[in-house]
Amino acid sequence: MLQKMQRKVIIFGGGGQLGVELCREFERRGWFVRGFDRQTLDIADAPRVEQAIAQSEAQVVINAAAYNQVDIAEREPLAAYQANGLAVRNLAMVCRQADAQLVHYSTDYVFDGTKGSPYVEADTPHPLGAYAVSKFAGELYAQAYLSDPLVIRTSGVFGPGGMFTPRGNFVELMLRLARENRPIRVVADHIASPTYAPAMAVRTADLVEKNLRGLYHMGGGEAISWYDYAKLIFELAGVSPALQPTDEREYRTAARRPKFSALSNTKLDAAGIAPMPPLREAVRDYLEARKYATAHRST
Ligand SMILES: NC(=O)c1ccc[n+]([C@@H]2O[C@H](COP(=O)([O-])OP(=O)(O)OC[C@H]3O[C@@H](n4cnc5c(N)ncnc54)[C@H](OP(=O)(O)O)[C@@H]3O)[C@@H](O)[C@H]2O)c1
Repeated sequence: MLQKMQRKVIIFGGGGQLGVELCREFERRGWFVRGFDRQTLDIADAPRVEQAIAQSEAQVVINAAAYNQVDIAEREPLAAYQANGLAVRNLAMVCRQADAQLVHYSTDYVFDGTKGSPYVEADTPHPLGAYAVSKFAGELYAQAYLSDPLVIRTSGVFGPGGMFTPRGNFVELMLRLARENRPIRVVADHIASPTYAPAMAVRTADLVEKNLRGLYHMGGGEAISWYDYAKLIFELAGVSPALQPTDEREYRTAARRPKFSALSNTKLDAAGIAPMPPLREAVRDYLEARKYATAHRST
């Protein structure tokens, strides 16, 4: 009897918050997964990327690797552009050669934040800094070299993969500041849609298995200020540090950021993809995973 061919996916950035979840989710669904973290493969190394894709014989290539240091990118725009722009150009060229589907992630920071309501795919990007420009370049390269890549824009990603990494995520930053017992000031005038990495991985796999292509927004589904998000984290973690609201005039950063960058998931919903879990549920789930991982780690 003819055996059903096992589908193959290659995942770059497999050590990141989203990457670890993608590897897990595709494996759970029975795909053959070849994952690379930064130590095993630098996506800016074009010949090695080409070789890895050719050897894997993957039908689907997922790029979850990214240079995400928004403020540092202002000092080293070339490093951001190499990882987020030129490396994606190379990936797209290799995918075209190999006839593989490219799945690539981008950011809510491609927008300038002046719209004031959740961004839809048809809104015009206007990136405000070096990181944002480099990510927008990545989108354009994917769309320039391929006729039907899947490009997914997301916002404020947090996932268990960020628990023990040096850069972590916003939840880890808040919990660390609370432990240090110092006053915490968080901007109340910047709004995003924090997105849970495990939920993203499931919905990415749904999009891939439905063979949907094009540009999709995949935010957490709720527009929330960073201050209110911090409040929610502390409430669910059962801690009450001295948290104060601040604003962008008082809290200066090297990179300009969009004031309102929440994403609308309307197109995703219309494609029949399950809605994102409520943020409260996602943060609770994260904290549960954290409790387990912390206990497990210390034994
Ligand atoms: N995190 C967010 O808040 C956020 C917001 C909007 C959009 N996004 C997008 O969502 C996607 C997933 O992000 P994430 O949250 O999973 O980020 P993450 O946790 O920082 O993971 C990114 C991974 O890419 C790796 N990487 C960086 N440069 C690389 C290179 N040259 N070659 C190979 N790997 C490299 C990083 O390794 P190192 O840790 O060693 O650098 C890290 O493991 C990215 O496209 C990102 O731009 C993220």
